[in-house]
Amino acid sequence: MFKSEKLALHLRQLIDSGQWKAHEKLPSLREQAQISGYSLITVLNAYQTLETQGIIYAKDKSGYYVNERSASQTLLNAGVHAAEHIQINSAVFHYLKNTQAAGFIPFGSAFPNPELLFNQKFMQLLAQHAKRKQSYLNNDNMPPGNLALRQMIASRYMMQGVQCNSDDIVITSGALNALNLALEALTKPSDVILLQETVFYGAWQAAERLGLQVVTIPDHSEFGLHIEAFEKALQQYPVKVCWLMLNTQNPLGYTVSNNIKKKIAALLEQYQVYLIEDDVYLELNYGGKKPLPMTYFDQHQRVLHCSTFSKSLGMGTRVGWIHARQFSDAIQHLQLMSTLSVSPLVQNALVDFLSQHHYEKHLRHLCLRLAQYKQVIYDYLKLHLPQQCKVDIYPSGYFLWIKLPEYCDSYHIYQTLLQHKISIAPSLLFRPKHSLQNCIRLNCSYELHTDIEQALQQLCRVIADNIAEKG
Ligand SMILES: Cc1ncc(COP(=O)(O)O)c(C=O)c1O
Repeated sequence: MFKSEKLALHLRQLIDSGQWKAHEKLPSLREQAQISGYSLITVLNAYQTLETQGIIYAKDKSGYYVNERSASQTLLNAGVHAAEHIQINSAVFHYLKNTQAAGFIPFGSAFPNPELLFNQKFMQLLAQHAKRKQSYLNNDNMPPGNLALRQMIASRYMMQGVQCNSDDIVITSGALNALNLALEALTKPSDVILLQETVFYGAWQAAERLGLQVVTIPDHSEFGLHIEAFEKALQQYPVKVCWLMLNTQNPLGYTVSNNIKKKIAALLEQYQVYLIEDDVYLELNYGGKKPLPMTYFDQHQRVLHCSTFSKSLGMGTRVGWIHARQFSDAIQHLQLMSTLSVSPLVQNALVDFLSQHHYEKHLRHLCLRLAQYKQVIYDYLKLHLPQQCKVDIYPSGYFLWIKLPEYCDSYHIYQTLLQHKISIAPSLLFRPKHSLQNCIRLNCSYELHTDIEQALQQLCRVIADNIAEKG
């Protein structure tokens, strides 16, 4: 990113966050050069960029002023937002500690009920490999990963009509590692990336870790992804990479239509932007055909698709992958400096599990249970939550997204429930601070046993109290 673009983005963040109000005068060019340490010409270029975007205006011989944010301008910007300095890792750290604590009801957990993930056959295969010396040999399992496993992953893509070669795949230490490697390979500090306004906290953490600037687009209540805002953001900001979840979006749950995916692919090419697609729930769909990854629509190698076995066989497998294509080499270089290879034992067991067709059977069973359990909890909540609350349900995954009235604070509810040994995931983990914080993500991969029902009762009670107190 050029220095002037960097400065323009910083100034825009100050304006977006309300630190400079409409018609307020900006520092003169000379003052701004002193404040920022940039040259006069860089400052002038930054001011002119903001003027062209209609964010500020110039008055003859007087300087630059902040423009009015008229209704039409807000519409024109379509809710595109440049996020302030990102600091989320600490909040996620504390939340994870709480969701993992012994004796807690794990409604806040990001992973499915482990009881549903344990698979006898997979454990047998692991045990068999554990007894063979050659299963520990790393030579065949170093980056880009076990060849047979990569071939099987590639053939699963091809069954969906996605062009894929085993050389395009890099096996990683789970999806989080895949996503981070992809982002690191494609960006350098202070580059601009685009995120959905409400998204898996791992995306915010990655941006924080790599020192990236984030632009967000608002969620669309009907289509999930706001395609107009997406285009506006690519027009207005020097976006280098988008990180999106389009299938079983975490935390909201929606899956974007093929029509919108086609439009995204066209815009990526038009604006020469790369997309990192987080598709960790790709196998947990029980509402019809498996949704297509963005690589299906992408004719120009602009998409890196990341997924994992964590959500279907347990996070303990720590095996994920990137369909990395032309970036395979760059990503392997980064692996050599960080995680190196993924456990040969687990990679070998996965090869047998997939090639002997146990995976499909396991997935069918898992999806059946997830669909059942989620429906039961949804029905319970519809009956017992105060009527001002709305719950979103989709035919995939295991989360429900509960929307409370806007004046409610889900972080407060989260803290109250911790005292009752119940964890939930409040919206603060997924959204920038300036967004509405009235929502809760609930993990519904549990059967309605007594302890789960009691915890749901408590949740409904705490929500009702919060509404009564604030409403
Ligand atoms: C949306 C999303 N992406 C990525 C990950 C990371 O998955 P893994 O355990 O394979 O690293 C998670 C895990 O919670 C997730 O929910």
